[in-house]
Amino acid sequence: MDRRWGFLIGLLSAAWLLLRSGHDEPRPPETAAQRCFCQVSGYLDDCTCDVETIDKFNNYRLFPRLQKLLESDYFRYYKVNLRRPCPFWKDISQCGRRDCAVKPCQSDEVPDGIKSASYKYSEEGNNLIEECEQAERLGAVDESLSEETQKAVLQWTKHDDSSDNFCEADDIQSPDAEYVDLLLNPERYTGYKGPDAWRIWNVIYEENCFKPQTIKRPLNPLASSQGKSEENTFYSWLEGLCVEKRAFYRLISGLHASINVHLSARYLLQDTWLEQIWGHNVTEFQQRFDGILTEGEGPRRLKNLYFLYLIELKALSKVVPFFERPDFQLFTGNKVQDADNKILLLEILHEIKSFPLHFDENSFFAGDKKEANKLKEEFRLHFRNISRIMDCVGCFKCRLWGKLQTQGLGTALKILFSEKLIANMPESGPSYEFQLTRQEIVSLFNAFGRISTSVKELENFRNLLQNVR
Ligand SMILES: *[C@@H]1O[C@H](CO)[C@@H](O)[C@H](O)[C@H]1NC(C)=O
Ligand SMILES: *[C@@H]1O[C@H](CO)[C@@H](O)[C@H](O)[C@H]1NC(C)=O
Repeated sequence: MDRRWGFLIGLLSAAWLLLRSGHDEPRPPETAAQRCFCQVSGYLDDCTCDVETIDKFNNYRLFPRLQKLLESDYFRYYKVNLRRPCPFWKDISQCGRRDCAVKPCQSDEVPDGIKSASYKYSEEGNNLIEECEQAERLGAVDESLSEETQKAVLQWTKHDDSSDNFCEADDIQSPDAEYVDLLLNPERYTGYKGPDAWRIWNVIYEENCFKPQTIKRPLNPLASSQGKSEENTFYSWLEGLCVEKRAFYRLISGLHASINVHLSARYLLQDTWLEQIWGHNVTEFQQRFDGILTEGEGPRRLKNLYFLYLIELKALSKVVPFFERPDFQLFTGNKVQDADNKILLLEILHEIKSFPLHFDENSFFAGDKKEANKLKEEFRLHFRNISRIMDCVGCFKCRLWGKLQTQGLGTALKILFSEKLIANMPESGPSYEFQLTRQEIVSLFNAFGRISTSVKELENFRNLLQNVR
């Protein structure tokens, strides 16, 4: 009898709950913020850390110090060859657009230390400059070098030519290569879009994302003519790939998302002959990231942006021993400033190292040695291709930031693939096994600075979209 009553009461209360839920107030429609950010809250699958912790860590601890570092002379001048022809098609240049133009530096603007150091290697190369002020190129200084240093120089050159470079060396010794002041050429909305900009991303996704032979649709998430079912096919294909190849796709998607966050955050809102006003364009942001407007793609893109952030964060935490070596300098010729900058750099790196990253160490770039080497080679080839594709970007300013960010990400991967070498580096003296050039260092930190800015901008957009339905 008791049991039957219990059963009946249970049944009744279940029915009541069911009824009540039916008669409940209709759920308020989601806000635009929820539609964009639904996949980026709480725990991320790649890291046992939650988004809120990452945001706080980035926005308040890392971002301000990183900005300060990137404003220093060492990091603001980037040498780049923007005049290499596109190897894949005849490019229709949009470089006439005013907002696409890049102002190269007059040669007296760049500190001498950087100019003469540019061919050399950040670490030992910097010391050489003091030994031989006149030298313009590494080759020219041979006589004044000790035998040991000469050997080292040969090693570095060999090393630089070797397979460890993820990006096509941007022949910075070419007469076409120029120094660019990154602070004077900020990444922002340029009006470069439409079929031209599309083609670039399409080629990047299609040719380079370990594309399966069977899928013919454009992998570019921006492509509009995509059906739901194809979408699912695409993602189930992606699921089936091994972790690292999936990682490659997500890195590219994260980079794409980050660039679009910038363009939406520094949109040209007003353009009159009197002034130009740049600021947040919420509509532009929604068009790229709203879950409904993008058929579910947008939130995934934002998730990939965090993934990219964490990968670069991880690379930075692994490369600390390289920068900690006493011989390493951020050489510009101004001793006091250089020393201060190194202190700031190490502070930032230690901050990063203290962040609990807890990635699954085994799932990434590890595996058995033969397999890992094969994968490293595959990544490298894909990255070379992507940096060549950047030569096809018709807008100079976009080309500049595209090249810089690809090289930065390539450097991060080089670091991750060299984890053991770095961990076993001698504490001082020449290191033949692992080197970073000034170009790599500048691009690594500036690329990370971009992603860090994106994460910060997401907070702004979240607030701006809070009350938008
Ligand atoms: C590089 O790009 C070319 C031209 O698009 C393509 O044929 C080749 O397969 C690509 N290689 C890789 C490794 O992506
Ligand atoms: C914001 O971007 C949209 C396109 O996404 C554009 O139509 C609109 O004019 C922009 N708003 C402003 C104020 O420029």
